[in-house]
Amino acid sequence: MGKTDVLISEVGPRDGLQNTKAFMPTEYKKRWISAAAAAGLTEIEVCSFVPPKLIPQMVDAAEVVAHAKTIPGLTVAALAPNYKGAQRAMEAGVHKLTLTISVSKSHSLANVRMTPDEAIASAKKICDFRDSLPPEQRPKIESGLSTVFGCTIEGVVSEDEVVRLAIASAEAGCDEVGLADTTGYANPEQIRRVFKKVRAAIGEKLGGAHLHNTRGLGLANVVAALEVGVRTFDSSLAGLGGCPFAPGASGNIVTEDLVFMLEAMGLRTGIDLERLLAIRELLAEGIPGELLYGYVPLAGVPKGFVPASGR
Ligand code: COA
Ligand code: ZN
Repeated sequence: MGKTDVLISEVGPRDGLQNTKAFMPTEYKKRWISAAAAAGLTEIEVCSFVPPKLIPQMVDAAEVVAHAKTIPGLTVAALAPNYKGAQRAMEAGVHKLTLTISVSKSHSLANVRMTPDEAIASAKKICDFRDSLPPEQRPKIESGLSTVFGCTIEGVVSEDEVVRLAIASAEAGCDEVGLADTTGYANPEQIRRVFKKVRAAIGEKLGGAHLHNTRGLGLANVVAALEVGVRTFDSSLAGLGGCPFAPGASGNIVTEDLVFMLEAMGLRTGIDLERLLAIRELLAEGIPGELLYGYVPLAGVPKGFVPASGR
C-alpha cells in the first residue's frame, strides 16, 4: 500500500457491537475484520476486554484478537476499562490498547465505577505492567479520554479538566491521548479549541479524534480537527456505535462517508471505497435488524469521482 495522509482506525467491531442488540456470531466478526483489512484499513479496534456478564457481545474477545493477528500488516487494537481487562488484552497479544478515561466524573462512575483520578491511577498500574513485559510484547497504550466535549449526565465538561487528565495520562505512561466526543456534543469551534489546548499541554502525545455523529456534526468536526493538525480518526462501518453507559449516545461517524470525504478532499486514506461499501452486506446478515447509517452508501459516489489514493 502507498503513502497515506490520514489514518482511519475502524472501531465498529468494538464501539459498534458493544451497543447492538443482536449478538454477531464470531465467524462474522472475523470475516468483517478480514474484509476491512482487505479494503485497506490498517488499524482496527476489534473488541473490548470487559466482563462478558456486562457486555455479552465481547465474550469471544480473545478469539477475535487471535484471528485479527493473523492478518499481515494490521494493527490490532482493543479497549480495556480496567486492569483486569488490560491484562487479558496483553495476554491476547494486542498491538494497541486503548484505556477509557472519562473526564466527566458521573460518566466515569457509571461506565467504569472509578473516578477519573482512580482511572488515571489504574492507567499507571497498567503502563507499569506493560513496561515489565519483554519489549516485543508491549502494546502501545492510548488514553482514550471520553466525554471530552460534553456529558449526557453532567452537561458541560471543563476544558481545564480535559487538559489536566491529558497531562496525567501522559505522566502515567500512556503513549498517546485521544479525545472522544462520546456523546456527540462537540461543534467544530470547540474541536479546534480543545485539540489546540491539549496539544499545547502534551505536544506530540496528542492522538486522534473519536467522534460520534449524534447531532449530525461528525464530519464537520473532522474538518475542524484536520485544520488543527489531527491526522487520526476513529470511525465505524455503517456508523454503528454508542456507549451503553452514556444515555442517548448514538453512532460513530460513518467510515464509508469519512473515506469519501477525505479522498474527495485529496487526502489519501489507502482505503478502497467500493470494497468498503461491500462489507455492509455482511453486517446486514450478521446483525439483522440493526440500523445501518451512511449517506454515500445510499447515494453512491458521484460521477467522475477520483479518490486521492488512486490518483
Ligand atoms: N474482564 C473480565 N472480567 C472482569 C473484568 C474484565 N475487564 N473486570 C472485572 N471482571 C470481573 C472480576 O474478576 C469480578 O469477577 P468475580 O465476580 O467472578 O470475582 C467481576 O468482574 C466484578 O469485578 P469488579 O472489579 O468489581 O468490576 P465491577 O463490577 O466494578 O465493573 C468494570 C467494573 C470496569 C469491569 C465495568 O464497569 C466495565 O466493564 N465497564 C466498561 C463498560 C464499557 O465497556 N463501556 C463502553 C466503553 S466506553
Ligand atoms: Zn465511541
